[in-house]
Amino acid sequence: MLKLPKRFLVTAALPYANGPLHIGHLAGAYLPADIYVRFLRLNGKEVLFVCGSDEHGAAITMKAAKEGKSPQEIIDKYHALFEDTFRKLGISFDIYHRTSSAIHHETSQEFFKTLWQKGEFIQKQSEQYYDEKFGQFLADRYIIGTCPKCQNEEAYGDQCERCGSSLSPLDLINPRSTLSGEKPILKSTTHWYLPLEKHEAWLREWINQGTINGVEQHEPEFWKDHVTGQCNSWLDSGLQPRAMTRDLDWGVDVPKEIPGHEGKKLYVWLDAPIGYISATKQWAKDNGKDWKKYWQDQDTGLLHFIGKDNIVFHCLIFPSILKAHGGYILPKNVPANQFMNLEGRKISTSKGWAVWAHEYLEDFPEMQDALRYVMIKNMPEQKDSEFTWKGFQELVNNELVNNLANFVQRVMVLINKYYKGKIPKFDEDTEIEAADQSGLPTFVDAELMELFDKVYEMNTCIWEYNFRGGLKWLMDISSWGNQILQANEPWKIEKEDPAKVKACMALCGQIVAALSVAMRPFLPFTSDKLRTMLNMPAFKDHRELVDMQNKLADGRLILKSGHQIGEPVHLFSRIPDEMIDIQIRKLATASAQSQATSKNHKPVKETIQFEDFSKMDIRTGTILEAAKVPNADKLLQLKVDIGFEERTIVSGISQHFNPEELIGRQVMVLVNLAPRKIKGIESNGMILMAENHEGALGMMSPPEGWANGSCIS
Ligand code: MF3
Ligand code: ZN
Repeated sequence: MLKLPKRFLVTAALPYANGPLHIGHLAGAYLPADIYVRFLRLNGKEVLFVCGSDEHGAAITMKAAKEGKSPQEIIDKYHALFEDTFRKLGISFDIYHRTSSAIHHETSQEFFKTLWQKGEFIQKQSEQYYDEKFGQFLADRYIIGTCPKCQNEEAYGDQCERCGSSLSPLDLINPRSTLSGEKPILKSTTHWYLPLEKHEAWLREWINQGTINGVEQHEPEFWKDHVTGQCNSWLDSGLQPRAMTRDLDWGVDVPKEIPGHEGKKLYVWLDAPIGYISATKQWAKDNGKDWKKYWQDQDTGLLHFIGKDNIVFHCLIFPSILKAHGGYILPKNVPANQFMNLEGRKISTSKGWAVWAHEYLEDFPEMQDALRYVMIKNMPEQKDSEFTWKGFQELVNNELVNNLANFVQRVMVLINKYYKGKIPKFDEDTEIEAADQSGLPTFVDAELMELFDKVYEMNTCIWEYNFRGGLKWLMDISSWGNQILQANEPWKIEKEDPAKVKACMALCGQIVAALSVAMRPFLPFTSDKLRTMLNMPAFKDHRELVDMQNKLADGRLILKSGHQIGEPVHLFSRIPDEMIDIQIRKLATASAQSQATSKNHKPVKETIQFEDFSKMDIRTGTILEAAKVPNADKLLQLKVDIGFEERTIVSGISQHFNPEELIGRQVMVLVNLAPRKIKGIESNGMILMAENHEGALGMMSPPEGWANGSCIS
């Protein structure tokens, strides 16, 4: 069993403030962290939950350059969006900070200075890629080329996103600058390196045995296999010195006290994790607390929630920095998640293949818990997982609506109907029909024990970072409640066996109350609703879960007989096919738009509904007459036979067609376009044309000999 520290400090990866958050971010780091933190609070543990925006590095400056904005504008925009999105999704940070703050610059400079003074860095001159046109060194994302491991042609200088290998710019085959697109030259520059190879031995022991020099630090059996595996594969291939500074003009300055600091910035992966510390400092300052307790006391359990692309930074590099500095604790665990794919493809911002959290919140208002539910259900805890819109719909409709909301609704309605909303008094020995094989016939002891067991199982899963497992147990409680209703059918025997109905409904009332507490880490908005419905005190998020478990263990009721509940409120709505179809089309459009743009095609227009398309009445026709419009060099006046009538249409095609060649041509005509006067002539419709990249026009024609007036649909 896990040994518990006195207090917890939980961090979630600081997201780069260079683009909105998508479901992969949520499922990877923020939701699991929030579940765990809420769970700790409900268990009465002291816990601090910190996060913030990562506002330095090439990720930011490249985005700014692309949008023609300043880095400051970019980070301000996304920092505000992140804060808002996290709040709306119920991610319950104690502080959401940012790395552009003064306190962060000071903190990370202090770190750098200490390491430098202690001689923990080596200063090295080396040849690095340089873009002559832009006058800039090309580190990390400023350089792309072919990955030596998987031949991906778009690998970055620091990492290949296809195979996940970590790279250095010199590894790339065929390197190109992302600024000018040109082949860079090599130029000499000096940087400070952290000799990671010096840390290899203790890291290996710490990761695998959980000890440092034989002294226990953490319990490695609770680390996920894929996390330990990735660390060992790095360790096995031998750690290399890693540059901790960059030639950039955006970031934290190398401290002035250090000779040669001019023009150098801290490497973003040095400053960003220190952001956890500066966020803690800021929180402590705002709340009159001592930050050191969280970072320098061995009895603090530090946990980093991250996605798998961040593993080496949190398990090898940052711990080396902390240890080299001295006086800091190391993480007790790094429960990283793998990736969530979307509709069978890897989520990709640049390819427009993502579900954006802020857009979801707009399209599905008041449905935050539905997203949380589906994310947890498909959480990539041990391996990559998959989100599909159809799957989303099925889970919401079958599990949240049919199981959870249905059970709660039935219990609320029946207790209100039969007992004016008061939990009925009942005889503790009343036999009710058992829902499980395991169910015993008397209510209080047997059934509360069963409820206790299910909550207990859920807790065990959550302690082990198995959130999917925990959610399963939660839903099992609700299914069990439904089975009890189904087995006893209180609505049929209310008159003939009131004692049994009382016992049954009192039990179901306990189950709803237990659900309100047990679901809170997963579905916080719904738990608040249940709480209000049940007329229980609002959550303080402190001890509610332990208190409830103690009651159940003693066979005490959560809602006493006579407790007055309120009215049912709506919990979850069924998701119709149309809503899902819209999302699937939206995804396809966004992906086509980014494809088109990347291939120099015009971007695809915004998604429309079928109803929008079907408003257009397009018919086949034949041009009968064509003539130039006097005093207008672009216009032709046409007479077109559209089967049931002849139309006059003025068309701006004079520079592309001679009038004579048009006569007799079959065309397609938009016939319900509002009439317009052009050069004094009333035009009644529009001829459809295709325009190619050179701007040439081609007439759209129906199959030869096709009858005029046929509908196009
Ligand atoms: N910004 C990084 C990313 O999005 C994560 C930084 S985590 C921190 O991948 F520890 F460095 F803050
Ligand atoms: Zn690769």
